[in-house]
Amino acid sequence: LDSGHAYPAILPDLTAEAERVLTTYRSQALQYGPKQGIPELREWITSYSRTDGVSTSADRVLVTNGAKQALELVCRLLLDEGDSVVMTSPTYFTAIPIFRSFGARFIEVGQDEQGIDVDQIASIFAELQREGRPLPKFIYDVPEFHNPTGLTTSLSRRQSLVDLAAKWGVYIVEDSPYRRIRFEGSSIAPLKAIDPEDYVFHVGTFSKLIAPGIRVGWVSSSAEMIARLVQLKADSGSSPLTQRIVHEFCAAGKLNAHTERVVATYRTHRDRIVSALRRELPEISMTVPSGGYYIWLRLPSGIDGDELAKQGAQEGVSVLPGSKFYAAADIEHPKNFIRVAYTHATPDEIDEGVRRLASAFHAVESPPREQHAQPVP
Ligand SMILES: Cc1ncc(COP(=O)(O)O)c(C=O)c1O
Repeated sequence: LDSGHAYPAILPDLTAEAERVLTTYRSQALQYGPKQGIPELREWITSYSRTDGVSTSADRVLVTNGAKQALELVCRLLLDEGDSVVMTSPTYFTAIPIFRSFGARFIEVGQDEQGIDVDQIASIFAELQREGRPLPKFIYDVPEFHNPTGLTTSLSRRQSLVDLAAKWGVYIVEDSPYRRIRFEGSSIAPLKAIDPEDYVFHVGTFSKLIAPGIRVGWVSSSAEMIARLVQLKADSGSSPLTQRIVHEFCAAGKLNAHTERVVATYRTHRDRIVSALRRELPEISMTVPSGGYYIWLRLPSGIDGDELAKQGAQEGVSVLPGSKFYAAADIEHPKNFIRVAYTHATPDEIDEGVRRLASAFHAVESPPREQHAQPVP
């Protein structure tokens, strides 16, 4: 229950696409490709983005080796040693070492049911300005089905965030791998769709839509920023072989039907884990996510998530302790959280995993402990 891997049974059969690419497009697919990504795929991403209200064009899209490489390239473009970055507390744990490797300092802000706390960011910016200190270089967020909290930012909060970025001239990095994995409710415009001044770098990926192993993602921004990112992409371009396979799959119209299957499958998994958690672990509290891969579990305040994860491993269930998701090293963070993922395991494994988690929980439970009553922040 720890990983953001796909459910093995839902991975698409790409044999026909791979065969076609290796026959019809053999010479292009097996050579170095264009650094920015193959034009057909960038065109396709452009039209896909348009269905979300994002008006972009192929010259404003860079294909990357997954979203993580896009994050890394944006850091290479924007960050100098000692610059700061704003992010939610908690945040996506892989973004932390990426940002840190560029010498970033972290400014953590809160998050509630409406999303990232924009008022808090505004007061931090005002204070930095008063003190004559530099503003952060960007605000990093996962507005859809956040990793790890599962929360989705409301439209009005998104608008405030984009307005704040434009007012202060600070970029936003919108990392959005789970946008289409929505189980209920209607979708909300991406930040990039309400960003007339191009402060948003929108990061997308086929990892959660098709398969993580193909390593194909993208970033879209202004033509000028994309041109600079292309210069910084020093790997001779992402693999034309996997890009062509992705393009064959998408251009044949298979992505929508596949996404529907993915959503239906993960909705079942989500329901299964929520019932199992309610049955086996009534002591914990959670906000049930309406999409994505993860649930952030608040443990009673006396229970340490690190201890629970360790004990879980001994009982044969793997979960991630909440401590992995906090960026700033010099701040005391709550210890009573863990993250569970429901996509990779089978429904029966989910039941068994939660049963083992409950057994681990009872082993680390150390009375007396306080009653928990607060909502997830
Ligand atoms: C918020 C977030 N960003 C990016 C990624 C990674 O995407 P990719 O596989 O495209 O590098 C993940 C995967 O778990 C994620 O949760």
